[in-house]
Amino acid sequence: MDKAKMLEKLNEILRWEWAGMIQYTQFSFVITGEWREVYSEVFRKSGKEALTHAHTVGDLIVNLGGVPTVERGEVRQATTLHEMLEHSHAIEQKHVDLYTEALALCGDQDVGLRVILEDICRDEQEGAWHMEKLLAKKELAASRTAGASKVG
Ligand SMILES: [Fe+2]
Repeated sequence: MDKAKMLEKLNEILRWEWAGMIQYTQFSFVITGEWREVYSEVFRKSGKEALTHAHTVGDLIVNLGGVPTVERGEVRQATTLHEMLEHSHAIEQKHVDLYTEALALCGDQDVGLRVILEDICRDEQEGAWHMEKLLAKKELAASRTAGASKVG
């Protein structure tokens, strides 16, 4: 494993976990309307998950001899729930892509590191798929068969 490249990638990931933590927490603050009751807590929880991931990645960076960044990626703001969910989907997908790139940098001997990154990547992938369902981006197979009525 090229340690310098891995440290660079992990710091890129950390920047985007910080962005996710702030973006989700901001959504939990500003969401208004009848869905606030549900989504304020959903966004608050997602912000906490990003912080948990940031803790893991920051510790990994120090374990590999690096210094965790205090910079962050771009935080997107929104005023409607739909926009918030679109931005949430985008950042979850960004996280999936970044962890996948970090996994590609792992060597055969980096088993522990790979498992840790895979665990987080699974969380990110589940998050991205969940957002796709909330945004109704996925059409169920049954709805594509002839004569079947659209689900949802
Ligand atoms: Fe994350």
